[in-house]
Amino acid sequence: MRPRVLITQTLPASAIDRLKETCDPIFAPQVERSASGSLTEAVRDVEGIICLLTDRIDRELIGSADRLRIIANVAVGYNNIDMEAARAKGIMVTNTPDVLTDATADLTWALILAVTRRVVEADAYLRAGHFKRWDFNLLLGSGLTGKTLGIIGYGRIGRAVARRAAGFGVTVLYCGREEIAFRDDPPRVHVSRSDRQSSVPFTASARLDGLAAKRVPFITLLEQSDIVSIHVPLATATRHLIDRNALQRMHSSAYLINTSRGEIVDETVLAEFLQKNRLAGAGLDVFEREPEVNPALLGLQNAVLLPHIGSATHETRTAMAMLAVENVIDFFSGRRPRNAV
Ligand code: NDP
Ligand code: DGY
Repeated sequence: MRPRVLITQTLPASAIDRLKETCDPIFAPQVERSASGSLTEAVRDVEGIICLLTDRIDRELIGSADRLRIIANVAVGYNNIDMEAARAKGIMVTNTPDVLTDATADLTWALILAVTRRVVEADAYLRAGHFKRWDFNLLLGSGLTGKTLGIIGYGRIGRAVARRAAGFGVTVLYCGREEIAFRDDPPRVHVSRSDRQSSVPFTASARLDGLAAKRVPFITLLEQSDIVSIHVPLATATRHLIDRNALQRMHSSAYLINTSRGEIVDETVLAEFLQKNRLAGAGLDVFEREPEVNPALLGLQNAVLLPHIGSATHETRTAMAMLAVENVIDFFSGRRPRNAV
């Protein structure tokens, strides 16, 4: 019998056609969802699910899905899935890395440029009819050349963001899992202005992918970066990683960019810092309680806010859907899925 695979939301036709070669797709209508977004009845009779980050695949749902063998998330982040519950039942989980790396890195730079050059404010100014004449002092922003970008999470997207930094004359610092785990007790490393402007003195883990990037402790990164960009997944160790203590370490002239997961930043404290100009600006693609956005952020001109569109290009979304389908096909053909997590 062909495996039945529940598809929780509309996906490109090419991906559905590919799935139909070996599986029977079942489409979950919105009405079958509980208020929490958790799927209920629909999972009982299927062997696979292809789901999105808005589908909460929790313990209860996994518990009720007796035939379920694979959960294929159409996203690289899989914090919407209770991994412990899936593992306990021997259910395979897959994600869609790589195909969205460039799109998300591009959007990160779109946010960096938008917030530092006040692009959204300027657009609103013009549409409101305020552009009467060219003004030497109008809407001055902050330049990028010679500045320092601190990347938290130097994985696929973090490195793609770093690669683009070279084109803007920006120096890159980064930290990863270890620096985050030992953030309260790090060795002190100082990066002098001259080090930041030269490509030579970078030592530890420098020149990964041919990039001049310096690995530094978490606190050093916060203290010495003009722009801090977040690229770690949401996990216990990263929830509210950017809290009051972290924001206090940043310059008041610095910017925070988040294209990872909203819960990594304490949004209430961030809004307070932006409001009091203790931080110059923020570019956010993700929020703590999506699709809700903290009302305090909505009123701030120095925040650029996007509705979680990091991977939202036609090309990337099709590639993500295709990859999720290939993972399901791999699995039901007896192969280990290429993106098993
Ligand atoms: P990667 O796994 O390639 O990189 C993640 C980085 O974070 C790695 O350096 C990793 O370190 C580090 N890390 C992993 N787990 C932890 C942890 N528990 N504590 C601290 N650091 C950790 O992921 P991607 O770059 O592909 O994606 C990053 C995140 O971006 C995704 O998880 C997703 O949440 C988000 N995303 C958002 C998008 C959007 O639309 N806005 C689009 C795409 C992704 P190590 O190398 O040691 O494992
Ligand atoms: C992901 O893949 O994790 C994004 O949030 C959506 O592409």
